[in-house]
Amino acid sequence: LRAKMVVDKAFKIAEVDKRIYGSFIEHLGRAVYGGIYEPSHPTADSFGFRNDVKQLVKELDVPIIRYPGGNFVSGYNWEDGVGPVESRPKRLELAWRTVEPNFVGTNEFFEWAKEIDSEVMMAVNLGTRGVDAARNLLEYCNHPSGSYWSNLRRSHGYEQPHRIKTWCLGNEMDGPWQIGQKTPQEYGRLAYETAKAMRLVDPSIELVSCGSSSSSMPTFPDWEAITLDHTYDAVDYVSLHQYYGNKDNDTANYLARSMDMDHFIRTVISTCDYVKAKKRSKKTMYLSFDEWNVWYHSNSADAQIEPWSIAPPQLEDIYNFEDALLVGSMLITLLKHADRVKMACMAQLVNVIAPIMTENGGRAWKQTIFYPYLHVSKFGRGVSLQPIVDSPVYDAKDFTDVPYLDSAVVYNEADEELTIFAVNRHLQEALDFECDIRSFEGYRVTEHIVMEHEDLKAVNTADQENVKPHSNGSAACSNGFINARLSKASWNVITLR
Ligand code: AHR
Repeated sequence: LRAKMVVDKAFKIAEVDKRIYGSFIEHLGRAVYGGIYEPSHPTADSFGFRNDVKQLVKELDVPIIRYPGGNFVSGYNWEDGVGPVESRPKRLELAWRTVEPNFVGTNEFFEWAKEIDSEVMMAVNLGTRGVDAARNLLEYCNHPSGSYWSNLRRSHGYEQPHRIKTWCLGNEMDGPWQIGQKTPQEYGRLAYETAKAMRLVDPSIELVSCGSSSSSMPTFPDWEAITLDHTYDAVDYVSLHQYYGNKDNDTANYLARSMDMDHFIRTVISTCDYVKAKKRSKKTMYLSFDEWNVWYHSNSADAQIEPWSIAPPQLEDIYNFEDALLVGSMLITLLKHADRVKMACMAQLVNVIAPIMTENGGRAWKQTIFYPYLHVSKFGRGVSLQPIVDSPVYDAKDFTDVPYLDSAVVYNEADEELTIFAVNRHLQEALDFECDIRSFEGYRVTEHIVMEHEDLKAVNTADQENVKPHSNGSAACSNGFINARLSKASWNVITLR
């Protein structure tokens, strides 16, 4: 089986905004308590944050992290999470039916994000609350001093403002599961008025309007068309969320799901551009894919959890090898849309549908999906180039003409490095891959990283890392052509200089 590709310096999609390698920490399950924060852990720092977890997050080099939810934010009183920890209330947390102790709140999270060198993408509660709580939180975080909320922050030990730039106007407001779900008209009005007030507090912020909770919502894409009609002039991004699973154990179909993600992105772009045309606007709306991942392994275990405990093990998907392949293709899909998708968050980061897992009081370890995320975050900085792909295709249950070869290319001009990311979706056969890179004169392969495994269902545990990359790929370059054998069902990263 053969696949060919042409890559040319001139075929530029756009400069990759590094924030597409963002992630997400929600007050949910053991993401915060037992995940990033565990004061009794042997590696805990003076704030109670686990240094072993920080190390793994730093390895991923995550540029932006969404916080504090997710569904959680739609019932959150941010004031509960600031000030002396001893006087913070324990609250019933309705989204996930747990008890929230509020040991970690806005200031602590900001400290943690600084430690790992990441920006915060803050979400405001537009479920149970609205304009007033949002503008107060913004004043608390970003106003220098001399007002009630900024002085309160200073009295809490934060003399300097946090200067949080990116703000999400609520979360999944179209979903019936959301506390304070809204119709698109209700949300559009509320989001617009909240944006207006927030910009009066701090005009330098960027705002994200809530899009649909997934491409399968019955109100998609009307939701985008109606809400953006209200918010278009007041916001900079519209959000997308999408999770996939392989419940029917049909891997060929499962690995094609990134084509659904691609279609979702294209439809949202078209809808944004329709609103732009309708408004005779010059402004282009950008996309924030602020929740994406595989999520299904833990569904049945979650249904058994008794309500009202603190930090139970919720949404603890254990990812297998095939999940890492789909995650690779989802990252490739984001890169292909680098001209419009400017932010994205793998949901989530620690313990909850996450690349990093922890034991309470014990070890931290890497799931299979850690690796494609790491590779793209590390090598995917520069200009996303449009490869011209000629690949054999297959048909699956929900998709036709699925290319076996899925690929994206990034050229880092500053480092003079070219990186090809490629998934071979064929489950039985290797692909003989040939790539014309004649516009990159003199470039040689420096590394060919491969993730492959005989067992599509193989997983990692704290004891054993069964699924991990090696650098023994066969790629070689001569006379401007790369030749490589891409193993069946594999994730490949070919770097050249
Ligand atoms: O990431 C888990 C949940 O998925 C989030 O809380 C919610 O926004 C989405 O439905």
